[in-house]
Amino acid sequence: MKGVILAGGLGTRLLPMTKVTNKHLLPVYDKPMIFYPIQSLVNAGIKDIMLVTGGNSAGDFLQLLGNGREFGLKELHYTYQEGGDAGIADALDLAEDFADGGKIVVMLGDNIIERNICRAVADFFTQKEGAKVMLKEVPDPRRFGVAEIKDNRIFAVEEKPQNPKTNYAVIGIYMYDAEVFEIIKTLKPSNRGELEITDVNNAYIQRGAMTYEILEGWWTDAGTVESLYRATQLVAQNGANRLE
Ligand code: TTP
Repeated sequence: MKGVILAGGLGTRLLPMTKVTNKHLLPVYDKPMIFYPIQSLVNAGIKDIMLVTGGNSAGDFLQLLGNGREFGLKELHYTYQEGGDAGIADALDLAEDFADGGKIVVMLGDNIIERNICRAVADFFTQKEGAKVMLKEVPDPRRFGVAEIKDNRIFAVEEKPQNPKTNYAVIGIYMYDAEVFEIIKTLKPSNRGELEITDVNNAYIQRGAMTYEILEGWWTDAGTVESLYRATQLVAQNGANRLE
């Protein structure tokens, strides 16, 4: 399977740090943020990776990552999201030709995990069609897309609910079949003017084609001052992307 890392967006919650550079180039402990999701996909056996970037300093990714040799990759693919903030699903849409009709694993460029997604990726490899999301129990579900689960099935994702029905957040790791690009084409921008990945996930749920897995180990994003600080502490204390 191929992998797609979404590293566009404007990173406004990290201003002024993101005024002249891209959020995903900022340091998390001893490495630029973008190193972590690349390593997560590589650890899951994904060797063909596209980076979608946009906004400030897009060219710096090329200088930083080159062909991805540091990660044992033969080459790294890049594409550019014009405007840079039309939403996660808009960024993903740019990977349609790269996906070439196959299944993909998508990871947000500001997500960092302690362990790995090997089992989930292997399960999705054998899943005939549809999608899979990764969930993590969080203390503050109101900040996230929250999964409603019953009888081991996920039957809705509610975006930032006032009264969350579970504590399971949908984290920024998604697996899709090629239908995802057809679904994205049916989306309308949300109130905040973005094509929302939650709408993509709910479309799969309505088709009865969504599975989920609960992530082991810690997970954090690094898109706010607090979470960037926490991410640095977690990586410093435990390391990230452990294989076992
Ligand atoms: P967000 O953190 O939701 O958005 P952002 O990065 O623009 O930051 P802010 O809200 O502070 O302005 O995005 C999560 C990830 O998704 C981020 O790591 C980059 C990616 N993304 C894109 O690739 N394109 C986009 O248009 C958006 C909104 C996000």
